[in-house]
Amino acid sequence: MRYVDVGGIKLSAIGLGCWQFGSREWGYGNEYAEGEAVAITQRALDLGINLIDTAEIYGFGRSERIVGRAIAHRRGEAFVATKLYPVLPVEPVIKQRASASAARLGVAEIDLYQVHWPNPVVPIGWTMRGLAKLRRDGLIRHVGVSNFSLAQWRRAEADLGAPVLSNQVQYSLAVRQPDRELVPWAQANDRLVIAYSPLAQGLLSGRYDGTNTPGGVRSTNSLFLPENIAKAGELLTALREIASAHDAKPAQVALAWLLRRPNVVVIPGASSVAQLEANAEAAELDLSDDEDSRLTGASDRFSPKSGPAALPDLVKARLRR
Ligand SMILES: NC(=O)c1ccc[n+]([C@@H]2O[C@H](COP(=O)([O-])OP(=O)(O)OC[C@H]3O[C@@H](n4cnc5c(N)ncnc54)[C@H](OP(=O)(O)O)[C@@H]3O)[C@@H](O)[C@H]2O)c1
Repeated sequence: MRYVDVGGIKLSAIGLGCWQFGSREWGYGNEYAEGEAVAITQRALDLGINLIDTAEIYGFGRSERIVGRAIAHRRGEAFVATKLYPVLPVEPVIKQRASASAARLGVAEIDLYQVHWPNPVVPIGWTMRGLAKLRRDGLIRHVGVSNFSLAQWRRAEADLGAPVLSNQVQYSLAVRQPDRELVPWAQANDRLVIAYSPLAQGLLSGRYDGTNTPGGVRSTNSLFLPENIAKAGELLTALREIASAHDAKPAQVALAWLLRRPNVVVIPGASSVAQLEANAEAAELDLSDDEDSRLTGASDRFSPKSGPAALPDLVKARLRR
């Protein structure tokens, strides 16, 4: 495994995303939640992955419980990151919610406690005051945010009066906004961008071709519309060809491209232990500058239909199911 040193801590470049654990919207079922999910987490630790990302909202606490079971006798190997769902994120509420998360995870201290989304009504300073107190009390080690703009991230830091270690954002060859501000700022300031949906929820594996769209949460992801998968043709071809040159898989190349960005770690989810193992191996995959440029160019030219323009097609696709 490769590690990224940031803010005085050492994190695996490949982490593990645990939204899939016990969350109905992924549709992986009970057997996955009760068996495979624990096996995936334990295998991740075996392979040197320390960054394990979950959230109180995933499966309404079930994901945290599953992670807690998986790391029960291996606490020292895991850097546990969870997230506060920011409904009324003020001091007494935050304290109660963080304590409940820690109990489900079976930990005395949460390594990274992230604000899942900015709250449009509650000033971030109120939330940061509560988080500062949790840090002083030893319930959390580091504060992070998620889905924050750069301005919101900096505001949070100013209000916390200390570094906000990380910002977890959607980032992949299919979604490139973090390139513009967040990644350069993280690099210049010893902070971290945690890339979520780094495989664009599986699109970048090349497994979905418009005829086999996955269900659940991904049926509401416009990237999986047949029209958008067709538009992603150049990018998917580049991923396949570069993968074949390295005796690797397209998903691994998609992760390796992200890891060439400074101060970036990725947290792919996995539907099986085999996928987790393949994702872990991506840390060892070195792309050349030419390969990077080819992928970046194909990604620049990928312009999927999204937002309100994609809505009618998503509704039609949903009705056809
Ligand atoms: N902060 C936030 O707001 C936020 C939002 C979203 C996600 N997240 C976090 O980020 C994590 C990852 O994001 P995500 O789950 O949305 O998307 P992702 O990691 O891009 O995609 C995960 C899916 O891709 C497929 N996959 C994974 N590895 C593969 C491989 N080696 N080969 C082929 N297919 C592979 C699997 O689906 P199939 O096998 O079923 O195709 C898997 O469930 C989440 O678990 C969560 O922790 C955070």
